[in-house]
Amino acid sequence: MKDIITMGEFVIKNQGDFPYAKGELSSLLSALRLAAKVMNSQINKAGLVDHLLGSVGTQNIQGEEQKKLDLYANELFIKALKARDQVCGIASEEEEKVVLFENESGVNGKYVVLIDPIDGSSNIEVNVSIGTIFAIYRRITPIGKPASLEDFLQPGNKQVAAGYIIFGSSTMIVFTTGNGVNGFTYDPAIGVFYLSHPNIKIPEKGKIYSINEGNYEYFSPSLKDYIHYCKQIDPATNRPYAGRYIGSMIADFHRNLLKGGIYMYPATSDAPKGKLRLLYECNPMAFLIEQAGGKACDGEQRIMDIVPTELHERTAIFVGSSKMVEDLEAFHNKKEVG
Ligand code: AHG
Ligand code: MN
Ligand code: MN
Repeated sequence: MKDIITMGEFVIKNQGDFPYAKGELSSLLSALRLAAKVMNSQINKAGLVDHLLGSVGTQNIQGEEQKKLDLYANELFIKALKARDQVCGIASEEEEKVVLFENESGVNGKYVVLIDPIDGSSNIEVNVSIGTIFAIYRRITPIGKPASLEDFLQPGNKQVAAGYIIFGSSTMIVFTTGNGVNGFTYDPAIGVFYLSHPNIKIPEKGKIYSINEGNYEYFSPSLKDYIHYCKQIDPATNRPYAGRYIGSMIADFHRNLLKGGIYMYPATSDAPKGKLRLLYECNPMAFLIEQAGGKACDGEQRIMDIVPTELHERTAIFVGSSKMVEDLEAFHNKKEVG
C-alpha cells in the first residue's frame, strides 16, 4: 500500500513553503476544503432535488444566465471563507462588486480570495464535470481598515496560492502555493482528501488541442493557421492532434495538465476581449500551469503580467504545454514553428 497523506497533513507539513505566517494557509485551505465537501455531497444528488438544478431567472453582471447551483456555490464559499480570520473579502463571478466582510476579519484579515464558484455552469444539467476556481492574494491596503478594490486588482504574478476543485468522475482539489502543483482526491466514504497526484508536471509537448471550433469563422487568420497546423498529418510531431473540448475550462485544463495539451479561448471578431475572466479564471489557471512547467499567454503577453483595471475583465487565453503555447505564439507572430 502507498503512503497515505491527507491534504490537511500535507498543508501543515509544507506550510513553510507558504511565504507568510504559519497556520494561515492551512486555515484558509481548510475552509475551501470544507466547502468542497459540501459541494461534493450536493452535486452528487443534483439530479434528485429541485433546489439545485435549473436556472434562477436572473443574470450575473456579465449578462450570463445564473443557475441555481452558481448561486448556491457562491453563497457557500462566501460563508466558508467569512468564517475564517484570514480573509477580509472576496470577489466572485456572481457578485457585481467585491464583498468586503463586515466582521473582525474584514479589517484584520490579510488575504483576499477571488472565485469562480461554478465553472462550466452549462454542464450542470447534463452530468458533465464542473468545478470551482480560486485565487488568493495578500491584501495591499493596510491592515486595520476594510479592504478595497485595489486589493483585488493585482496582477496574477502576485498570487500567493491558487487552485481548483474539480467535480468529475472523482472529486479533486489541485492547488499551488508557488512551490509546485499537487492534487488530492476525495474519498467520500471517509470524508478525506488524500494526496494522489504529487508534484504534477505537464508534458512539454502534448497532442490535444481544446477550443470551441464552432467559433472558427470569428478566429483571426493566424489562429486559423494554427488550427490547420494541429490537424496536419506529421507523425514526427504527433500530428494530427486530438481535438477535445468539454466546455468546462476546469475539466479541459485538468485533462491537458495530466496528459499534455493546449486549451484556447481566443479573442474573436465578435468578442474582442475573449470570454474568460482574467481575475478568477485565467490567473489561477496560469499560476497552476507555470508551476507545473507549462505556459499561459494571451497571444501577446504572459497572462500573469496583465495589470487588471476591472474586476470582471476578460482576456484571451492560451494555456498548456510549453512547446504548444510557444508554437501558437509563433503563429501569432508569424514565425517559423520549430
Ligand atoms: P462559467 O460557467 O463560469 O460561466 O464558465 C464557462 C466558461 C468555461 O468554463 C468554458 O470553457 C467556456 O465558458 C465555454 O464557453 P463556450 O461555450 O463559448 O465554448
Ligand atoms: Mn468559469
Ligand atoms: Mn462560473
